[in-house]
Amino acid sequence: MTDLLLAFDDERHLAEPLAAALGVPLRWVERHAFPDGESRLRLPAELPRNVALLRGLQQPNEKLAELMILVPAARELGACRLTLVCPYLAYMRQDMAFQPGEAVSQRHIGQALAGWFDNVITVDPHLHRVATMDEVLPGRRGVALSAAPLLGAWAARHARRPILLGPDEEAAPWVRNAAQAQGLEHGTCIKRRSGDREVRVALPDRVFEGREVVLIDDVASTGRTLAVTAEALRARGAAAVDVAVTHALFVGDALAQLQRAGVRHVWSSDSVAHASNAVSLVPMLAAALRG
Ligand code: R5P
Repeated sequence: MTDLLLAFDDERHLAEPLAAALGVPLRWVERHAFPDGESRLRLPAELPRNVALLRGLQQPNEKLAELMILVPAARELGACRLTLVCPYLAYMRQDMAFQPGEAVSQRHIGQALAGWFDNVITVDPHLHRVATMDEVLPGRRGVALSAAPLLGAWAARHARRPILLGPDEEAAPWVRNAAQAQGLEHGTCIKRRSGDREVRVALPDRVFEGREVVLIDDVASTGRTLAVTAEALRARGAAAVDVAVTHALFVGDALAQLQRAGVRHVWSSDSVAHASNAVSLVPMLAAALRG
C-alpha cells in the first residue's frame, strides 16, 4: 500500500505516470546544491505512513549521500513504511573481491539500503553470484523486476526474425527471458574484460550471415561491450545489429562507439531517461507497489 510518491524532478518522466497509475499524490523533494558540494533537501512538512520514494541510482555517489539524509528526515516527518523504487540499482556488479582487499560493494550498499528502507523494488539488478534481492538486502523485502520480456517483444516487432544475443554469460537469463515468450532464437557470447574500456568478445559458433541480431544486456555503460560485439557480428555478415538494454547509462562517447560499430537502432527501457527509451517500466513498477 502506498499513500504518497516522493520523487526528485530529474525523474519526472517516471514519477508523473507512476503516481497517476497508482492514483496517489506525487510530491517532490527539493534539492539545493551548495557551492562546496553539500546538498540541502526539503521534503513535504508532513508525510503519511506509507511512502514510496522513486530514486534511480545512476551517477550514484551523490544520490546515496542524499538518501542517507532523506530517509531519517522522512521518518521524522511521519513516514513509517518506506519503499525505495530504484529502477537502476548501482554497485551490483562488484559482487566479490576480484583482488585481495577489494570492497564487495554489492554487499555493503545492500546492507546500507536494508538499514534505510523497508522494501526495495528494482529492475534487472546485476545479480550474478547471488540469486535474489532478498540476499542483497538482509532482513528486508527486495523485489527484482525484469524489463527483458518488454525488450524481447519490442525487438520482435522492430527487427526481422532477430536472433537475441547476450554479450556475456551473465546476460543469459535476460536473453532467455526476452526471447522465450516471442519464440526467438537466442544465445550468448564469451566476454573478457581487461579494463574499463577494454573488452574482447567471442561470438558463439552459429550462422549470423544475413541475419538481424539484437544485442540484449542489463546495462550499457561505456558501450564498449556492445560495440565490440556489434563489430564482430558485422564481420560475420549479420544483416543488421540493434541494441536493447534495460539501463541506458551510455556514458561519454558510448553512443558514438555504437554508431561507429555499425549499430542500427539503440533501444532501452525508461529506467534512466535517455533518447533511446522505447519501453515503459511504469505498469510493472505500479503493479509491484500495489502487490
Ligand atoms: C556486465 O557484465 C554488464 O552486464 C554489462 O555488460 C557491462 O556493464 C557493460 O559495460 P560497458 O558498457 O562499459 O562495456
